[in-house]
Amino acid sequence: MRKMVFRCFCCCAQDDEEPNIRESKTKNYPWEIYSLKELLNATNSFHDDNKIGEGGFGSVYWGRSSKGIEIAVKRLKAMSAKAEMEFAVEVEILGRVRHKNLLGLRGFYAGGDERLIVYDYMPNHSLITHLHGRLADDVLLDWPRRMSIAIGSAEGLAYLHHEANPHIIHRDIKASNVLLDSDFQAKVADFGFAKLIPDGVSHLTTRVKGTLGYLAPEYAMWGKVSESCDVYSFGILLIEIISARKPIEKLPGGVKRDIVQWASPLVEKGSFDRIADPRMKGKYDIAQVKNSIQIAIRCTDGNPDNRPSMSEVVDWLRGGVRRKKEVMLIKNFVEEDEDEYEDDDDDTDTDYEGYRAAQSAARREWAGSKIR
Ligand SMILES: Nc1ncnc2c1ncn2[C@@H]1O[C@H](COP(=O)(O)OP(=O)(O)OP(=O)(O)O)[C@@H](O)[C@H]1O
Ligand SMILES: [Mg+2]
Repeated sequence: MRKMVFRCFCCCAQDDEEPNIRESKTKNYPWEIYSLKELLNATNSFHDDNKIGEGGFGSVYWGRSSKGIEIAVKRLKAMSAKAEMEFAVEVEILGRVRHKNLLGLRGFYAGGDERLIVYDYMPNHSLITHLHGRLADDVLLDWPRRMSIAIGSAEGLAYLHHEANPHIIHRDIKASNVLLDSDFQAKVADFGFAKLIPDGVSHLTTRVKGTLGYLAPEYAMWGKVSESCDVYSFGILLIEIISARKPIEKLPGGVKRDIVQWASPLVEKGSFDRIADPRMKGKYDIAQVKNSIQIAIRCTDGNPDNRPSMSEVVDWLRGGVRRKKEVMLIKNFVEEDEDEYEDDDDDTDTDYEGYRAAQSAARREWAGSKIR
């Protein structure tokens, strides 16, 4: 990793006065090296009005590049060896991965004490803004959007775990790190804590990073990190998407309760409608809520060996949505048939047979898709 850090900085040291964006000289990388001048112009010199948000490592600013493209620029706070490492990890990892559900890195600037990372701008902000923040009351996240965000985030993670080479563990999956594009498609962001996992290595032991409420117990207690730590965090996020509850709540008296402790008794009682966000006013598919919560409970199993892989999670979440579509198709089919027979007294057995045939075909396909 350290080797990558040096390589990364060698290629980014440059003259602050350079007016144009230069393409990375190392052709292996798809990102661009920006000049400070370009990014100052784009963000109105990091004006407060351009500030979108602030995290532990710095502030994020909206801007428009010289090419007229909207960008988000993360400006790292104080320079330290730790911040330098996070900057290098983020640029190195995001520069390597390309997936529809991972935030796109446009480029960066590194010079003097300034470390700037340039991303695609996400006009619909992060999940946290919609679940707990200033857009929560607008309820822009209806049930189909929530499902598509859950599936998209799961796909982004499955890509990191199973397709990226070497495999990548994100280690900071949480609502503020899932951004939403103009179509409310999920983009997983913030790779500053990520770890590259060499082939054949099942887990690593590291210092604990990440965010309270999302940390898998074996990671929080012993620093044992593997893909299943991300699966755990995803499970927490999934319950959060469905319920709009925070991962940790403070109860009267100061006792803290995590979201799994809150949801588990409701799951046991089968009260899935009490888990769903009341702001949706009952407009959700209860079978999908149930399916998703059950997946989340498996993801948050205390024993990492019992948790599913992210690719299984993607299949199961998609399965729930597909099943719903099939039921709708069958329902439409029956209703159309009913219309056809409305005016005659023909034998309705035909209708029933058609319904049964469609239903078993759908079931066969569903069963097949589970096996594939
Ligand atoms: N590409 C982007 N497009 C739009 N908004 C963004 C973008 N990147 C970040 N943001 C916004 O800026 C806020 C701050 O992001 P940042 O990653 O710095 O901190 P965080 O995720 O809230 O916390 P932490 O430092 O613990 O990761 C986010 O909540 C998000 O709303
Ligand atoms: Mg973040």
